[in-house]
Amino acid sequence: MLSYIIEGGRRLEGEVTISGSKNASLPIIAASILSGKTTKLYHVPDIHDTRITLEILKHLGCKVKKNNGKIEIDSKHMDRHEIPEHLMREMRSTVVLAGAIIGRFKEAVFSYPGGCDIGARPIDLHLAAFKKLGINIEEEAGYIRCKCDKIVGTKIDFDFPSVGATENAILASVFAEGETIITNAAMEPEIVDLANMLNAMGAKIEGAGTKLVKVTGVEALKEVSYKVMPDRIEAGTFLCMGAITGGTILLKDVVPEHITPILSKLEECGNMIQVKGNTILLTAPKKLKGVDIKTMPYPGFPTDMQSVFGAMLTVAKGPSVIIENIFENRYKYVGELKRMGAKITVEGKTAVIKGVRKLSGATVKSTDLRGGAALVTAGLIARGKTKVEHIEYILRGYENLDQKLRNLGASIEVVEG
Ligand code: UD1
Repeated sequence: MLSYIIEGGRRLEGEVTISGSKNASLPIIAASILSGKTTKLYHVPDIHDTRITLEILKHLGCKVKKNNGKIEIDSKHMDRHEIPEHLMREMRSTVVLAGAIIGRFKEAVFSYPGGCDIGARPIDLHLAAFKKLGINIEEEAGYIRCKCDKIVGTKIDFDFPSVGATENAILASVFAEGETIITNAAMEPEIVDLANMLNAMGAKIEGAGTKLVKVTGVEALKEVSYKVMPDRIEAGTFLCMGAITGGTILLKDVVPEHITPILSKLEECGNMIQVKGNTILLTAPKKLKGVDIKTMPYPGFPTDMQSVFGAMLTVAKGPSVIIENIFENRYKYVGELKRMGAKITVEGKTAVIKGVRKLSGATVKSTDLRGGAALVTAGLIARGKTKVEHIEYILRGYENLDQKLRNLGASIEVVEG
């Protein structure tokens, strides 16, 4: 087990450059399978989840080279269609590999995905989209076998705008015969990034970023070099970390429009936000104000920021109410924050936070990626020493978090045990 040791109470000040987006990199790496050629990717964060995805690609027969921030994937000799269970269990987003494998080979075998335990996280919408595309699905002994002779364009109407299912539907339909119309599609920027990458390879995808996505099947894709978008959740996390410490921080390499709801809430808390090009300067007030938050699909307030905001609001003046509408199990961090002195009550989807004057350092345990980031956020302001255990969860999604925080003036070290 790895842990962070944080000495709280240091004001964050300085610049931080935002890494490439985890959630955009994963489907984009999957998309590289489709061409059967070489794909060069830039700005892919070097984190557990991208490493696992690349491991799976190697297992499938792709050649993967990493060189100075560039990843080269050659999928020409890919000859396997089965994702091994032990790698599938490592993370949920391995499921988007299925759409790409089926798209290329009309055949894929995989098991139910693993990942952070933040809710039931079924994959029924993914499988329903595959079925609509004419793919036959058999479930047997925990494995899902997908096969078809050809993929035929169709109409896919999602009951809920699932990010992963929208990505899978796009990946599986790039080579379909005719047109695939996806309605009630997720509108997240990561979907736009995936579509931009595929279009740069020669795919025909229109409407990504809106509720209606149209994919016109093409016969082949070409080689591409592509730079992944900045990580909007990492950006939001650093802003909250700056805010809780009363700091001043400048984010570089960020797309401010991607985080509009985060910026508005931070302003409502009393922070001053100055946007200039692809930079954001946050100047925190002496005392943050409580705010109410409801998580929603994009362009609403992102569920991935809920826990980090929750941590920040524990020391705000006045009460805050959070309603978590996307994942039912995203309040596991609350019990840990309470050990640090936070006053939070949770009932179903709702958390009510009563701001306290101070938090105290304690030994706490990460229970999932963003919940872990919330504990680090709290540790930055808590009096004394905070030990955040099981940071393996945090390392899944944040690149060099401790180093970036040290550069901003935090006292944070990684320890074994
Ligand atoms: C992605 C993000 C994750 C983010 C989430 C919501 C990646 C790698 N992960 O996850 O960080 O928190 O979007 O913005 O991009 N659902 C079903 N059936 C399905 C699929 C989803 O019921 O087949 C439900 C889920 O249980 C959840 C909701 O839909 O309640 C949203 O899930 P979804 O948008 O699919 O999230 P992910 O793609 O898993």
